[in-house]
Amino acid sequence: MRPHHHHHLSLPLCTRAHQIGALVLVAVTFVLTRSLDRLSSFPSSTSSLYSSSHSSSDLFHAGALNWPERGYGSHIELRIYVYDESEIDGLRELMRGRDGQITPQACIKGQWGTQVKIHRLLLKSKYRTMKKDEADFFFVPSYVKCVRMMGGLNDKEINQTYVKVLSQMPYFRRSGGRDHIFIFPSGAGAHLFRSWATYLNRSIILTPEGDRTDKKDSSAFNTWKDIIIPGNVEDGMTKLGGSRVVHPLPLNKRKYLANFLGRAQSKTGRLQLIELAKQYPDKLESPELKFSGPNKLGRTEYFDHLKNAKFCLAPRGESSWTLRFYESFFVECVPVLLSDQVELPFQNVIDYTEISIKWPSTRIGTELLDYLESIPGMNDTIEL
Ligand SMILES: *[C@@H]1O[C@H](CO)[C@@H](O)[C@H](O)[C@H]1NC(C)=O
Ligand SMILES: *[C@@H]1O[C@H](CO)[C@@H](O)[C@H](O)[C@H]1NC(C)=O
Repeated sequence: MRPHHHHHLSLPLCTRAHQIGALVLVAVTFVLTRSLDRLSSFPSSTSSLYSSSHSSSDLFHAGALNWPERGYGSHIELRIYVYDESEIDGLRELMRGRDGQITPQACIKGQWGTQVKIHRLLLKSKYRTMKKDEADFFFVPSYVKCVRMMGGLNDKEINQTYVKVLSQMPYFRRSGGRDHIFIFPSGAGAHLFRSWATYLNRSIILTPEGDRTDKKDSSAFNTWKDIIIPGNVEDGMTKLGGSRVVHPLPLNKRKYLANFLGRAQSKTGRLQLIELAKQYPDKLESPELKFSGPNKLGRTEYFDHLKNAKFCLAPRGESSWTLRFYESFFVECVPVLLSDQVELPFQNVIDYTEISIKWPSTRIGTELLDYLESIPGMNDTIEL
């Protein structure tokens, strides 16, 4: 990889660059979604990842972080430069808000926490370089989804600040942004930056939202360069072993066949599930939850409910991707995707048909519950 330099960048090289990026991010992903308590040993677990020669079926073996040999080879050499908030005027605002009041600690929580975690992992990565001249990729940290939610910047300021930041990056100009990596961790994707199409259309974007039907004429997601990442699952749930806050229940101890625990957000599919639960209260748990007040579930309480069903229904919300899909694995509940256009991370490596169910959102009803009940093995009363 080393002999390639940026001024030679052309389309085929970009594609390869994308693959390299994907490879690195897969490591990040498994660390994020399966074993956050390995955070501190990330560089060493990465090396075992690349030296493995296991097949994809070994992927989920407990304790092993193995990258299957599928097209990428087992050896990789690349260098990533991570911009520092103090070196570019405006970067600090994108990470902490206009007054610098928002802390990374506040932004690392919740479904958008990946914007902080991936940044931190890269800071510790053995692929990090301190020299821009030798970098293959450039990572631009920004916690802008969090900053916006907490009132630290409005949409207009976000747009202006990004433009200001990019204008101070000669290396961004050199490649037209092709070797620069950005994270947009929410359903809006790069649309969080209003003028993304003018400035970031060639850059590598990490986002959980791969649905290209959502944003009509101007999807911010391009399969040839962007990478789908999972959402961030609560730290207390991704720990291995005894320190996890909520543990899975044996199948025969689970009260419900299925559940959906989320706000309706006036979405058809979600409203249908809430109605269905009223019809079949002993099979489906789907209370109408609120954002706040007495009907809001606390985090532990939420997972205590989630673990009480065999199937966890994951309908789309404001956008196609749904955090519930990722959360359900940690209580060993089979996720049932009710989001027709959703695209999942690393579909080339993970066979999602083996670990989840996808059901058409147009057929939410008795038929769905009948189907789930008919699945063999899920009604066993054998003690696990
Ligand atoms: C974003 O900011 C730039 C620079 O200030 C400006 O030219 C552009 O019109 C803005 N885009 C939107 C959509 O407001
Ligand atoms: C982004 O670039 C692609 C070509 O790489 C082009 O087809 C697409 O129209 C561009 N999108 C926008 C919104 O400019």
